[in-house]
Amino acid sequence: MEIMKKSLTLILLFSSCFTFAQVTFTADIAPIMFEHCTKCHRQGEIGPMPLTNYQEVMANASMVEYTTSIGYMPPWRPDHTYSTFRDENVLSQDEIDKIALWITEGMPEGNPADLPPFPEYIDGSQIGTPDLVLTMNEPYEHQGTMTDQYQVFVLPTGLTEDHDIEAIEVRADNNEICHHAILGIDTTGTAQLLDAADPEYGYTQFGGFGFDPVDQFFGAWVPGTNPMTYPPTIGKKLFANADLLIQMHYGPTSVTQTDQTSVNLFFSDDPIQRYVRTYAINPYNLDELFFIPANTVKTFHGTLQIPFDVSLIGVGPHAHLLCKSFEVYAVSPDLQDTIQMIRIPEWNFNWQGFYSYPSFIHLPAGYTVHCYATYDNTENNPFNPSSPPQWSAWGEGTEDEMYLCYIQYVPYLNGDEDIVLSAANHENVMVYKETQLFPSYPNPAAIEVNIGFSIGNSKETSLDLYDAQGRWIRTVFRSTKPVPGLYREKLNTSDLPSGTFYLKLQSGDHVSGRQLIITH
Ligand code: HEC
Repeated sequence: MEIMKKSLTLILLFSSCFTFAQVTFTADIAPIMFEHCTKCHRQGEIGPMPLTNYQEVMANASMVEYTTSIGYMPPWRPDHTYSTFRDENVLSQDEIDKIALWITEGMPEGNPADLPPFPEYIDGSQIGTPDLVLTMNEPYEHQGTMTDQYQVFVLPTGLTEDHDIEAIEVRADNNEICHHAILGIDTTGTAQLLDAADPEYGYTQFGGFGFDPVDQFFGAWVPGTNPMTYPPTIGKKLFANADLLIQMHYGPTSVTQTDQTSVNLFFSDDPIQRYVRTYAINPYNLDELFFIPANTVKTFHGTLQIPFDVSLIGVGPHAHLLCKSFEVYAVSPDLQDTIQMIRIPEWNFNWQGFYSYPSFIHLPAGYTVHCYATYDNTENNPFNPSSPPQWSAWGEGTEDEMYLCYIQYVPYLNGDEDIVLSAANHENVMVYKETQLFPSYPNPAAIEVNIGFSIGNSKETSLDLYDAQGRWIRTVFRSTKPVPGLYREKLNTSDLPSGTFYLKLQSGDHVSGRQLIITH
């Protein structure tokens, strides 16, 4: 009897454990789909089928299990254990296991009350009202022949003066076919000539723009990524009389469809002090010829010496169909420190993007960047455009290859590490980790000066102006409760004498200062 009782409690215990552990759609699977899949897998988006409810996921269950178990979906190519990026979309092992277990257990739907709300997807700009919207002149017709198409469109800005840009947002018009976009800036009219020479709207160009425009990396977009935003006083320059170039990759479709994509540009409120620069590691960084013989697997190793301290914003490796993998890192002169920049263990031409870090990465002067790329020019490479394999070298055609790694950066300033560009996998808002006083602008100032600062969670904060003798002049900002965030204040200086002044920010334990010069 005693034994019976024991085993009964055991059974009860066991079965209650079992119910507890049961994986259901509403409680376990839907949250995974909503967080990681439905931004592409819903009506009108690039994912080939919707995965928005129980029926849709059940109908594709084995494919869902397969693609998630091999790491093919969600399509995040960089190794997320190597380096962290903004908008990272990867499943944890626990989530992958849950999907598999749910299928093994017969795909129970679960309690409808457990179902989380379907995510709200913003239609239109995600970051406010743009200052300039550039739209393709006419719709481009992408043929329903199940082939990829790479087309460059030339959008005149019509601006006769230079403009400072703080955010760039690509608004793909037809999300069912838009696979990626790379933006460039041309001031020479070369792209217009290439467009005129092509009978269709825009001109066909497999990789890049067909020439080197003045800014070959103005911006980039792939489905599911947020607009590129820069912190105050950092941004891009849009040159006067420029053409904006969009290199668009359209994915295969069985029905002919049109696209008329727009780009939203946001002018900077604060004049830009540090322009975002791009360097592309290229075959000149190699110690050998960029040549890939037929029937070989070949790894190229390029190096780049960092000439002055820089703050890295992001990286974008670029190659074509023979490429298999990329790895980029920087090493200190004494070889004691390594900064891992990006590793793409399985290169996929269709899923290349530009990857931004959640906060600046400081690359000190003297460090060496190493960029390894491996190419498989054998029959084993299913993407090999030639059968039998042919030798390949630098070029923009489908059979040609490329070895590029774009590096976006600004010159380093003290404290850059504390500026959080965006949390990984979160909204596109900028989060400031710590209290900071930004450089004032203009400096020297005459009538008015812009003062930017961020504060954390401290109880009391004050920002005051002192003169050269340390005498208090006036308060710029004061709070006696925590008010974390980013602030921009304008200070009228017209009534102050010419001379050297000092701004002092105090917040909790933090004290920092910056010199301000006033000249009339
Ligand atoms: C960034 C957009 C994007 C996200 C996010 C995404 N997918 Fe996909 N998915 C695609 C595209 C595009 C394809 C078709 C092209 C390809 O296979 O590369 C695809 C293909 C698939 C396929 C294969 C369909 C077929 O018939 O070939 C499955 C299954 C799938 N996705 C499941 C998922 C699941 C599950 C998630 C979330 C864990 C997910 N996807 C997240 C864009 C996305």
